[in-house]
Amino acid sequence: MCDHEPRPVDTRAICEQEAEVVEAADPWQEFYGDSLFLKRDWDLEDWRSYYDKMPGWDGCEGTGVGVSHFAEEVFRRREASRAFFPLCGRTEDMKWPPPSPGPTTWTPVVGLDGVEKPVRHFFEKHQDLEHSVEELEYGKLYKSKDRRLQVFVCDIRDIALVVLGKFDVVVDCGAFTSIHPRDRAKYVETVTSTLQKDYRYFLEVCHGAPPSATGQPNSISFREVKREFGPSRKLKFLSTEDISEEWAVDTFFQTYLVMEPKE
Ligand SMILES: C[S@@+](CC[C@H](N)C(=O)[O-])C[C@H]1O[C@@H](n2cnc3c(N)ncnc32)[C@H](O)[C@@H]1O
Repeated sequence: MCDHEPRPVDTRAICEQEAEVVEAADPWQEFYGDSLFLKRDWDLEDWRSYYDKMPGWDGCEGTGVGVSHFAEEVFRRREASRAFFPLCGRTEDMKWPPPSPGPTTWTPVVGLDGVEKPVRHFFEKHQDLEHSVEELEYGKLYKSKDRRLQVFVCDIRDIALVVLGKFDVVVDCGAFTSIHPRDRAKYVETVTSTLQKDYRYFLEVCHGAPPSATGQPNSISFREVKREFGPSRKLKFLSTEDISEEWAVDTFFQTYLVMEPKE
């Protein structure tokens, strides 16, 4: 997600007038004070308002290491690998996946997000993609000229499985942990229905936040992950980091793991 570091209150001795100037100069401080961040569960309207209120894109590149760090585990070299980035926002990782050894030299990537602003921003930033936009009954489709990258702009609850097709790899960074809890089961059902038999499901999950914590991402226990994704998957844990300091809470952790079918 856009995990721009919330800035801790500066405790240095400065006069009140100076403090006012410092605060006025940091639009992020005001942004993080917005009532939106007092909400625990965000629906698509909240995300739209988040992107509308955001002061800018700079400093909003995310602090996680992302999927490229775990390429060996996630993208095993094989014919015709196809990757899905649900709730992709504007993640740079969509441009990254390594070449596949099949008849084509690239990994086809499909993204999906319910808000157009981050998707438009991604394609405008990457002019080399020479994108076009197609209007759909339920949203829009952004496509690179070479068709390697396609990003649907629609509510994930509205897309038909047949449109998405099947994927070898799912990259779920801040997706499972961002979808409104009311829609979590449906989200898991939709995304797991797109998996090929021999799949890799890369998941970034944040857990262990204090019970009173609000805002995004949701804190979800491993127990909950296992319960939502079902017992038929093997979970391989790749790394866990203490992210409490950057989120200014007592406890918060970020784990990367891969799910794959049990043999
Ligand atoms: C944490 S952000 C995306 C992070 C991104 N995957 C990354 O790696 O940087 C979560 C995204 O979920 C999208 N979203 C939330 N609910 C959705 C829904 N029901 N359908 C489609 N997108 C949704 C939001 O618009 C937002 O861009």
